[in-house]
Amino acid sequence: MDDHLQAIDALSYEMRKFPPSAQFVSDASTNDQSLYQEAQLDHEGFWARQARELISWDAPWTTVCEWDLPYAEWFVGGKLNVSFNCLDRHVLAGRGDKVALYWEGEPGDTRVVTYADLLTEVQKFANALKKLGVEKGDRVNIYLPMVPEAAVAMLACARIGAAHSVVFGGFSSQALADRINDAEAKVLITADGGWRRGEVFPLKPQADEAVKMAPSIEHVVVVKRGNNEVPMINGRDHWYHDIVAEADPVCAAEPMDSEQLLFLLYTSGTTGKPKGIMHTTGGYLTHVAYTFKFVFDHKPESDIFWCTADVGWITGHSYIVYGPLANGATQVMYEGVPNFPANDRMWSIIEKYKATIFYTAPTAIRTFMKWGTQEPAKHDLSSLRLIGSVGEPINPEAWMWYQEHIGGGTCPIVDTWWQTETGGIMISPLPGVTVTKPGSATFPLPGVAAELVDEEGGHVSKGGGYLTLTKPWPGMLRGIWGDQQRYRETYWGRFKGRYFAGDGAKLDDDGYLWLLGRVDDVMNVSGHRISTTEVESALVSHPSVAEAAVVGANDATTGQAIIAYVTLRGGLEVDEKVLRDHVATEIGAIAKPKAIFFTPELPKTRSGKIMRRLLRDVAEGRNLGDTTTLADASVVNELQRRAAETPAED
Ligand code: WTA
Repeated sequence: MDDHLQAIDALSYEMRKFPPSAQFVSDASTNDQSLYQEAQLDHEGFWARQARELISWDAPWTTVCEWDLPYAEWFVGGKLNVSFNCLDRHVLAGRGDKVALYWEGEPGDTRVVTYADLLTEVQKFANALKKLGVEKGDRVNIYLPMVPEAAVAMLACARIGAAHSVVFGGFSSQALADRINDAEAKVLITADGGWRRGEVFPLKPQADEAVKMAPSIEHVVVVKRGNNEVPMINGRDHWYHDIVAEADPVCAAEPMDSEQLLFLLYTSGTTGKPKGIMHTTGGYLTHVAYTFKFVFDHKPESDIFWCTADVGWITGHSYIVYGPLANGATQVMYEGVPNFPANDRMWSIIEKYKATIFYTAPTAIRTFMKWGTQEPAKHDLSSLRLIGSVGEPINPEAWMWYQEHIGGGTCPIVDTWWQTETGGIMISPLPGVTVTKPGSATFPLPGVAAELVDEEGGHVSKGGGYLTLTKPWPGMLRGIWGDQQRYRETYWGRFKGRYFAGDGAKLDDDGYLWLLGRVDDVMNVSGHRISTTEVESALVSHPSVAEAAVVGANDATTGQAIIAYVTLRGGLEVDEKVLRDHVATEIGAIAKPKAIFFTPELPKTRSGKIMRRLLRDVAEGRNLGDTTTLADASVVNELQRRAAETPAED
């Protein structure tokens, strides 16, 4: 084995293969290699065709892509309006009565919103925003629960050329204030409160705290949802329903420049300061419209799509708002948690709305596994024809469980790799084309150029490496708001001429890509690099394990030692030694965890990502810094207490 070509030891491969059914292939919008070939022959021409066919333009572009590394501009000179593309053109084509959103509130209340309804609401709210002084080029902050008004607010901003910056409703007032201040937003759109786990959580008080620290905010718009009592400041605060009721119902969709800023979305980096990722108009919309159509094999006449993300994350932006609406899709939107009033809520929603496509995260799938197969078995899930995964590497056991218990053994799974920065899906199966392997995101999509490299930037054709992107793509970030130097250093500084995603991956003998998680999740044990994901996957393949998180803790002898945190499936017990031996059998003795801690829950961010950094701090006995992004801080306190008590095994 050549060490240079083997940046990450690839210790295990999954051998099972799953082709799509003959029926799925024959019905699919694309079922052969033609898109791959077309994109291979003419990268820009391929994207230009997608832009022409999927998007309505007010004025044509003069240049498809201007590439001045690391800055790309797409469809330069072209003009379009994103809200026109998501709403007006469907209504003008006679599809105004089509349902855009089947919204389900957590307490069980529902709303059905058609494309015509959405268009009317967006025009009124756009006018209301104008009246509050919002102009083209301004920034507007959105801090809302999962209610249709979140989509309305985003589309209203797009209609008038203001950039939105959505902050997830679970973030603290300090986090909100930091983001408002960085963007210098003029208006904040929030709600009195929202429903979560059977209770109203107040949002407005948090928003008020934030605004005290955010001098740029001139007006606060408040959506009534929780019906909790909130103070309103005269002149500054406005009820959404009041200003919409008074607003003029017509607001023409003004053609925007293709490179007009559409939104900022803040994401955390390696330093404490979040990065305001910039996305623009024509390229972003083309990318999300194209990926929504082909990755989800979307059929506008018959599909009911459900993405379980929150609109506060990029997945919600691209695959609840812009991708689906640009394609005229009908969607389910759910406000609350998956276990209210009981552990089968998701499956009852799929049955109720006859959802055909379901898109969720591996962490959710592993939670569903923990809750047991009897939950999905209570419901008829036969409407589903395609299921997807995003946000983390999906371990083969979760993949198999998902396929069998949610996908009825027949639905193709699209494991989609992408980032806030990429705007849309980059690596994923095409469901009517790709033979999938459980746990592999398979291949770059047509129009996406990805390559693995070693430490020195040399090409890796097999085994482990760093994931890089080698050609500009339409949905790529245009920079970091207010800090272009950080943009160049973070993404383009590590490997010359390449975008470095921060992820490790490996290529198997058949050329399939296996994502291994963030590179800082790669451990180095006795000089061997082992991915935390690989050990987690081995642990989770044991029948008693529901979920596992693995970190590399500093170790005087071996450099790093593997420490595992494990949640068992309900009612099961297993000896630590049995699990260590199981990992040794699955991967090799080198990957045996030094210590395993059993815990009823793993510490997760509010978006559901396991906080490995925190677990590393716990394992290394460090004081924990800021834990405000944790969904449940008590989990970590308990782990810390036990780590102090338990001596690690040799
Ligand atoms: C990880 C979410 C493996 C990856 C859309 C990436 C994944 C980060 C996958 C971006 C996947 C996302 N397989 N890893 N299918 N999807 N990731 O910005 O580490 O919240 O860099 O975007 O999530 O997270 P972000």
